[in-house]
Amino acid sequence: MSQIYAAFKSIGAYVPEKILSNEELEKMVDTTDEWIVKRTGIKERHIASKDEATSDMATKASELAIERSGLDKDSIDLVLCATVTPDYFNMPSTACLVSDKLGIKNVQAFDISAACSGFVYLLSVAKAFIESGMKKNVLIIGAEKFSSIVDYTDRSTCILFGDGAGAAIISATTNKSEAFVDVHASADGSYADFLVTPAPGSVNPVSQKVVDEGLQYVQMKGNETFKLAVKTLTKDVKEILADNDIKSEDIPHFIPHQANYRIIKAVGDALKMTKEQVVVTVEKYGNTSAASIPMAINDIWESGRLQNGELMLLDTFGGGLTWASALLPFAGKAK
Ligand code: ACO
Repeated sequence: MSQIYAAFKSIGAYVPEKILSNEELEKMVDTTDEWIVKRTGIKERHIASKDEATSDMATKASELAIERSGLDKDSIDLVLCATVTPDYFNMPSTACLVSDKLGIKNVQAFDISAACSGFVYLLSVAKAFIESGMKKNVLIIGAEKFSSIVDYTDRSTCILFGDGAGAAIISATTNKSEAFVDVHASADGSYADFLVTPAPGSVNPVSQKVVDEGLQYVQMKGNETFKLAVKTLTKDVKEILADNDIKSEDIPHFIPHQANYRIIKAVGDALKMTKEQVVVTVEKYGNTSAASIPMAINDIWESGRLQNGELMLLDTFGGGLTWASALLPFAGKAK
């Protein structure tokens, strides 16, 4: 029997209509457009409307990914969603809600929580399901309504995050030239306090204290996270390239997690990547956590930069702490 591989067949994304600019943030907290641009590269971010949930954005991104894959939605046999801002914190999962909104029945569906690394983590999960022969067409989603856990009086976090969703179809193939080359995914829980939303959860169930102390909002040790992000992202990429005997100059599209332009630049420089190789979208979307990488892939696909067969190198880092990288060709149709 011929070997089965996982192939990245299509991409889709959705960004909410409303834009929150740096100028608007200047009126909300003690900050300036100049500080935000200089320290992060972010000019604006999109914010979901009050009645727009994570699953709504995820569904819109998924509809595009399914349409572009040319598949009938009923041939999807697994729906996976990476999010730390699910519709409901306990149940049901956002993947279940998205499956229902897409009209996909009797499908296995579940969420994973790996913060900004979620989408690349899902590539490893989809790869394992497909290569084992258990599933054939997997819908993977990274979707976040980060604005729902951001304290808009905290200038150190509220300037960073935005909302959005990205989705991809990963399908079984016997064509080795379409196959994922490699995926690495790791975690170190000893850094859990670098990025945390203290409530709601079993440690801090909902209470008056939670609300009074604002424990439902994201807290970040920004500077410590920044330093570790640069070090880890660079090391991770060097390892995945060396393991697969590929040089950084052979990568047409390096798509790092979009948290801060200074992190992207430091990692790109350390790898001697050119401006043309490094994909940057952080200026218009901010940090959209698990949605950041699929939204960036969608950007280069929609602008006609991503061609069939071209190698993508993905690299991400986030709460947990988690980090992951992936090396894979785009196995779908170019725009
Ligand atoms: N406007 C003006 N001043 C500010 C702002 C602001 N919005 N925010 C912080 N400052 C001030 C601080 O109070 C501090 O002032 P002080 O020196 O008087 O104390 C000064 O600016 C420097 O603060 P730092 O936190 O040291 O600034 P830094 O250069 O590190 O930038 C930032 C902060 C942008 C948060 C950066 O650290 C960062 O990007 N960190 C990494 C984020 C990341 O990668 N997260 C991982 C993924 S996210 C996820 O998984 C969900």
